[in-house]
Amino acid sequence: MNIKWDADRYTKDFSFVHQYGNDVAELIDCGKGCTLIDLGCGNGALTKALCEKGFRATGMDSSEELLGIARGKYPEIPFIRADATDFSVEEAVDVIFSNAVFHWIDRERQSDMLACVHRALKGKGQFVFEFGGHGNNALIHGALAEVFSEHGIAYRMPFYFPAIGEYAAMVEQAGFLVRYAVLFDRPTELKGSDGLRDWIRMFVKTPFAAVEDAEREEVISQAVERLKGSLYREGRWYADYVRIRMKAVRE
Ligand code: BEZ
Repeated sequence: MNIKWDADRYTKDFSFVHQYGNDVAELIDCGKGCTLIDLGCGNGALTKALCEKGFRATGMDSSEELLGIARGKYPEIPFIRADATDFSVEEAVDVIFSNAVFHWIDRERQSDMLACVHRALKGKGQFVFEFGGHGNNALIHGALAEVFSEHGIAYRMPFYFPAIGEYAAMVEQAGFLVRYAVLFDRPTELKGSDGLRDWIRMFVKTPFAAVEDAEREEVISQAVERLKGSLYREGRWYADYVRIRMKAVRE
C-alpha cells in the first residue's frame, strides 16, 4: 500500500471508515473465541470492536504510524506490522476480515494478497471483507481527471475498484468459494464545510506527486467547485461511495 498516512487526522476526521466496518463484521459466523486477523487494521478501532464481539483478534497493517496509534490505544491487543500482499502467520486462523483496504492494492498484486489470506486461514476458514467497488468515487475521480487534463497533466487512477464478477472470479481462483457478494451505493457524509477538499487531500495523493503545492490546491478547488452540484446537499458534502462486500470460505 503506497501511502504515507496522516494518522492523527485520519483517526480524528475519518472515523466513519471503521464505524461502517461494524456492519461488515455481521457476516462473520463463528463462535466466541474464534481467532481472527483484521487485515489492514489501521488505527485499530475496528480490531477493538471485533475483540468486543468476542473474537480473539490480531491487527495487521503496514503503516508504522497507524500501528503506533493502535498499540497506544489498545495495548491489550496484538498488532503486527506486515504487508497484506506478503505475509504469513505461525498459526492459521478461523477468520480473515478486512474493511476499506483492498482498493489500495494494485490489481496485479491482488492474487498475492489472496494467496497469503488462503495460506493464513484454517480449512473452511472465513474470508469476510468490504472495499471500494466498481464506480466508487466515480464523480470525484471524474472531476479530478477533467481538471488535470485542463492543466495538461495526466490523471492516473490510484485505486482498484472491481466489479463483483471480476473479483469473485479472482477469489475463487485463489481457492475460496464465494458464499455472498453484493455491490451497493453508500453516499457517505464528510465532516465539515471543507469535507470534500479534506477528503481529496487525505486520500488522493499519488496523482499529485509531481504537482507543485500551489497548483495542487488550485486543481482541488476547481474540482470541488465542479462537484458542488452533485455532492453538496443541504450544507453537507457527501462522497459517492460504492462498496463491494463479500464472504468466501476457504476450500
Ligand atoms: C474507500 O473506502 O472506498 C476509499 C477511501 C479512500 C480512498 C479511496 C477509496
